[in-house]
Amino acid sequence: IAQDEVPAIVIGTGYGASVAALRLGEAGVKTVMLEMGQLWNQPGPDGKVFCTMLKPDRRSMWLKTRTEAPLATMLWLDIVNKDIEKYTGVLDRVNFAEMSVYVGRGVGGGSLVNGGMAVTPQRAYFQEILPQVDANEMYSRFFPLANRTLRVNNIPTSYFETSEYYHFARVSRQHATKAGFQTTFVPNVYDFGYMEREERAGATKSALAGEVIYGNNHGKASLDKTYLADALGTGNVSIRTLSRVKRIRPRTGGGYLLTVEELDTTGNVLRQKEMGCRKLFLGAGSLGTTELLLRARENGDLPNVSGEVGKGWGPNGNIMTARTVATGFKQSTIPTLAINDWANQQRPVFAEIAPMPAGLETFVALYLAITKNPERGTFRFDRAADKLTLDWTRSQSQPAVNAAKGLFDEINRANLTTYRHDLFGNNKAFADDFTYHPLGGCVLGRATDGFGRLRGHQDLYVTDGSLIPGSVGANPFVTITALAERNLARIVAEDLNH
Ligand code: FDA
Repeated sequence: IAQDEVPAIVIGTGYGASVAALRLGEAGVKTVMLEMGQLWNQPGPDGKVFCTMLKPDRRSMWLKTRTEAPLATMLWLDIVNKDIEKYTGVLDRVNFAEMSVYVGRGVGGGSLVNGGMAVTPQRAYFQEILPQVDANEMYSRFFPLANRTLRVNNIPTSYFETSEYYHFARVSRQHATKAGFQTTFVPNVYDFGYMEREERAGATKSALAGEVIYGNNHGKASLDKTYLADALGTGNVSIRTLSRVKRIRPRTGGGYLLTVEELDTTGNVLRQKEMGCRKLFLGAGSLGTTELLLRARENGDLPNVSGEVGKGWGPNGNIMTARTVATGFKQSTIPTLAINDWANQQRPVFAEIAPMPAGLETFVALYLAITKNPERGTFRFDRAADKLTLDWTRSQSQPAVNAAKGLFDEINRANLTTYRHDLFGNNKAFADDFTYHPLGGCVLGRATDGFGRLRGHQDLYVTDGSLIPGSVGANPFVTITALAERNLARIVAEDLNH
């Protein structure tokens, strides 16, 4: 077993991990990032790095033999998913007993597969969920810093109002307005200048060619183009891909020893490696970080991991639903508008108007609603099966379904429209069994101190979405990024010299 020794290791390459690597690299700390997924820069046989949603191939999903798309059926028919070769593809769906979680795999984590919606949460709600965090500092310094570094931009209204590709969003806006609801534009990291050129100047189409959940070949400022490029540019950061961290244990004399599995592209473990570091940053996401810590506690490697680890998980109140409405066959994959009824005291809902790009008229108006669901789940680690489990029952999604239903019943009533029941299985109008926004598991101020230092452990930090207590009331990556910036600023100032 080969052994490497580095000053700092960051596990993962998603938002929290990328912030940590950049700020450590800038501070002169030699840092290695370990990512279980691949670097997405090699074109496949079709000349493209990523495949499209309509023609998924092995690049689409992480070690599966059939795709598991969020909309499983159309007109109740199993025509959406396709058999694929098992491969280290870019999108994973982790299926727990009564909740499934979509996550990105590869250099850039979730930024490779997400819709790019870059929302700074409403201040009052941010203060409600993370009351111990100085909101003044967040809103004056760290949210602006995250927005700048992530390259967040807004769709020009002149483009939005005239593009055929946003007809679907304008129709949903009209229906929401008729029912007395407000809509708001949603900023994004997809370059809207590029998108306009896709439509009008012959630039290679990406958002306008059905690319998103299996990756965008153009246009999107995913982390490999922003934070990670900057981190590598410091000269102090390197990334090892297809490297999955399996075990974390303390070393005598301080620091940590990691067992890392090197994978091939069919998921076989080629070999195991030991790596040592002084400082360890966990940025493997809500699921990944929590799993590593619970496994370490259960197998005795880190017996003092607190009982708070595993708690406080939530799906950010995610509920998907759809109505029967003609929305057009040309649809951009990048959502830019949301129905904003978050001010509703009984049932706050922020519902993004989602596209359904199928290349034909499907009569689907699709929405991803973010609701304020107070229910929380708990992760556990099943040692015998070497598996993370999640205590979350279907009934815990009911408050979120009720909130979304409250809003969309009113929209349907005002427009004499109905729900679609053919898209989510079991004749359901509301998809209540998956989330794009896993949050919590190592909640700030409970499992960690106020800055992500794991309680009871020196030099061990949590830096990703697991810090956020289950809900943020908006799409989460801007908050994950800004919170990581805030925590890293403190850690760099206080912890690097000893
Ligand atoms: P993130 O999940 O990004 O990264 C974790 C990384 O760690 C992954 O690359 C993973 O492979 C790696 N890893 C895990 N375990 C490991 C191990 N043991 N060893 C090595 N590596 C390991 N959000 C938003 O704000 N706007 C949006 O529009 C969307 N849309 C959206 C669509 C889809 C389809 C998905 C799946 C998600 C979104 N999201 C979103 C959510 C957003 O992408 C998500 O909140 C963030 O990516 C979470 O960032 P983290 O830093 O927590 O981890």
